[in-house]
Amino acid sequence: MSLNLLQTETHGLRLYGRAKGHKLKPRQAHLVETLLPTLGLPETISSRADILPENMPLWLEIGFGGAEHLLAQAQQNPDVCLLGIEPYLNGVAKALSGVEDHKLENIRLVRGDAREVLSTLPDASLDRAFILYPDPWPKTRHWKRRIIQAGFVTELARLIRPGGRLRFASDIDHYQAWALGHILDNGHFSWTAEHADDWCVAPDDHVPTRYEGKAKKAGRPCVYLDFTRTH
Ligand SMILES: C[S@@+](CC[C@H](N)C(=O)[O-])C[C@H]1O[C@@H](n2cnc3c(N)ncnc32)[C@H](O)[C@@H]1O
Repeated sequence: MSLNLLQTETHGLRLYGRAKGHKLKPRQAHLVETLLPTLGLPETISSRADILPENMPLWLEIGFGGAEHLLAQAQQNPDVCLLGIEPYLNGVAKALSGVEDHKLENIRLVRGDAREVLSTLPDASLDRAFILYPDPWPKTRHWKRRIIQAGFVTELARLIRPGGRLRFASDIDHYQAWALGHILDNGHFSWTAEHADDWCVAPDDHVPTRYEGKAKKAGRPCVYLDFTRTH
């Protein structure tokens, strides 16, 4: 997918936000040229077996930013395949450097819009999905830009297998409420929290991200919403 496509309307979907930042370092540019194409997904996917070995769990991270969480989860879970989708080239380049530095073999990377990439994946192909600190679009007139929308949650419900899990994290209170409402309204997810600590305290298997660090430094409490795909 070319940079121009990312910046404009693609298949009826408009991508908001940055697709590219500062110029890549030579090593990063080389990795984008050489390593990224080897980590992508096939153009046509008819079954999960086209992506990974039959018994390997597949975890997805949407909008991985600087890839801190994606890389750490891949290191901590070598038997799981982590699929990261991110339109921001500099974030993708960071992920690629991490893949090379740590010799990771369980990461798949796609530079693009998650809404498009997800439409190519087969039903019930995901064991877990993470959406961490998505762009909050605070102005009311921009809420339609939020990644969490009823249709997007329907797509997540199609993709996450029954019993699979979804984690959403945000430091923006009105987006927390928005996400909780949209995900529960879908009817295919149950919220696993029983006590306030379950959403106010980072889960044991969570890896803090760059945005989370900034939010905490600014004194904004972070909320972690864990869901199970029910039926
Ligand atoms: C606020 S940043 C958070 C990044 C990272 N998750 C973190 O916590 O540090 C939101 C990220 O979502 C990405 N993003 C925005 N729209 C997206 C889309 N349609 N598909 C995938 N990622 C998207 C942005 O490029 C950006 O990196």
